[in-house]
Amino acid sequence: MYDTSENKEKIISRLEDCKKNCELSKYGWGEETIEILYDLSTRGKMVRGSLLMDATEIMGGEEDSIHYAAATELIHTGLLVHDDIIDRDEKRRGVDSVHVQFRSEEITDRQTENLAICAGDISYFTAYEIISQASNLDSEALSEFSSTFARVGVGEMSDIVLSGRLETVEDEVLEIHRNKTACYTFAMPLKIASILAEGPELEKLHEIGMKMGVLYQIRDDHLDIFSNEDDTGKPVASDIQEGKKTLHTEILREKTSAGEELYEEKTVEEAREVVRKMEESSVRKEVEKRIEARRAEVIELIEGLENPELRELLKDVLQLVIQREK
Ligand code: IPE
Ligand code: IPE
Ligand code: MG
Ligand code: MG
Ligand code: MG
Repeated sequence: MYDTSENKEKIISRLEDCKKNCELSKYGWGEETIEILYDLSTRGKMVRGSLLMDATEIMGGEEDSIHYAAATELIHTGLLVHDDIIDRDEKRRGVDSVHVQFRSEEITDRQTENLAICAGDISYFTAYEIISQASNLDSEALSEFSSTFARVGVGEMSDIVLSGRLETVEDEVLEIHRNKTACYTFAMPLKIASILAEGPELEKLHEIGMKMGVLYQIRDDHLDIFSNEDDTGKPVASDIQEGKKTLHTEILREKTSAGEELYEEKTVEEAREVVRKMEESSVRKEVEKRIEARRAEVIELIEGLENPELRELLKDVLQLVIQREK
């Protein structure tokens, strides 16, 4: 399975550098916020940044990849800060979510959430500060980076309320997966790697990245339901409590008489009952079957790549996508 630890050390060191030199520490909330963002970033798997670095190195253009990798991880952290406000999740990466960290007796809950929204904003623009240190500012890479993260915003919006543009809910769920996760988790890091190395296999990498990213989100939804907080560092069945539409809810609807009430907010007990129904009606098995079918499709695409080292790397990453427990 893909091991990110070596690259993670390098990315942490780049983020540390950024923290030390950050102008923001001079102002009001700056120092505390940068510290919180840095600390939370170090707790992630850093699969996106790590893949960006490894893929760039394999394709022969490693010089600036560390800046894009660190910036990607910092923005990812910021997205999660905002996501936890949206999803009302109080745990992230095994510690309190940022809006919870800001809680104190002097301020209201609304103020703590608003502070966390600002912290997320700070992460985005600090990430661009990191990229600005690249020795060659590549406009194609920068454009890919920026437009991808803009797309994530749209994905999160559809995750909150479906836009109703597509015919079936299942199509819409997969579209959310592509927009909120796949584009920035694997497609963008692979495309940036290819751009920094002057363009080999760009289109194929995009397709593989998108398909692997959809699988990453399906696995994430699977862990939300069938795993536990000790492993994931996130609250259990949060998606069900929030009434999120996922592949799991759609399969439950296919198999049982469950209806629109699945999309309503639920208490912990009601969410537990839905999980029980999913177990009882083999939703878990059905999703695992679909994961396996999608995995086989991705393997076939990976085999079509010309670079053998890249093929090995992506097979390793695919294993992480499917087998990860956190
Ligand atoms: C969580 O991402 C959000 C998703 C897009 C599924 P990760 O599962 O990569 O979380 P960290 O960064 O390792 O905490
Ligand atoms: C979030 O998806 C994807 C982002 C763009 C942040 P989730 O809401 O499923 O991610 P987790 O489970 O909170 O990490
Ligand atoms: Mg969430
Ligand atoms: Mg969410
Ligand atoms: Mg999730």
